[in-house]
Amino acid sequence: MNDVSPAAANRDPAIRVIAERRSVYAFSQAPVDESDIRLALDMAVRAPNHRLTRPWRFAVFLGAARHRLADAFAAAAAARQLDPERTRSKQLIAPAVVCAGVSPRLDRPKVVEEEEAHAVAAAIQNMMLALHARGLGSLWTTGALCDAPEVKEVLGWKGVRERVLGVIHVGRAAPTDRLPSRQLGHTEFTAWYR
Ligand SMILES: Cc1cc2nc3c(=O)[nH]c(=O)nc-3n(C[C@H](O)[C@H](O)[C@H](O)COP(=O)(O)O)c2cc1C
Repeated sequence: MNDVSPAAANRDPAIRVIAERRSVYAFSQAPVDESDIRLALDMAVRAPNHRLTRPWRFAVFLGAARHRLADAFAAAAAARQLDPERTRSKQLIAPAVVCAGVSPRLDRPKVVEEEEAHAVAAAIQNMMLALHARGLGSLWTTGALCDAPEVKEVLGWKGVRERVLGVIHVGRAAPTDRLPSRQLGHTEFTAWYR
């Protein structure tokens, strides 16, 4: 907790997990326990969601199955004159990948599409925090190819409104992982009215 503001540096375990989580950029390829991913997904779906629509979708790729996802990304890249091999290797940086998406329940009255995505973002953060609590690192990635038809096909997400909101790489941080510095503190973003 060396870069945590004094206010956060207390003994509360939830605060510690939030304060300590960092994106991991260099992963060990040691396999991840499925039970840890299941736990993290169970925590993901506890996120707030307006009108209880539960708009999240997840697809988990472990070990060799990651190549199906990586191949889909490579095909999407090739079709768009991008480098398929570079794209493929980016999907294989960690031993597990969780794709997280939104399936907005627009068939229900008063449901707002943007709010459905907000709920999924909250779920992704819950998941990443739970993974951290289990000693696992993660990296939330996005990009133009995430929502390519080639990728959605392998995920089995066929609805026109279904969107991939994150491809989250999961594993243990490699010894070579480096934490970029980041600015902390909320003061400049916050107004208080009393
Ligand atoms: C919606 C979203 C998309 C992101 N996409 C990428 C990405 O494509 N590549 C990447 O390296 N990091 C990505 N990140 C991770 C951020 O770069 C990272 O969270 C940020 O640098 C802060 O670092 P920290 O997570 O260690 O606090 C994304 C984060 C969010 C919330």
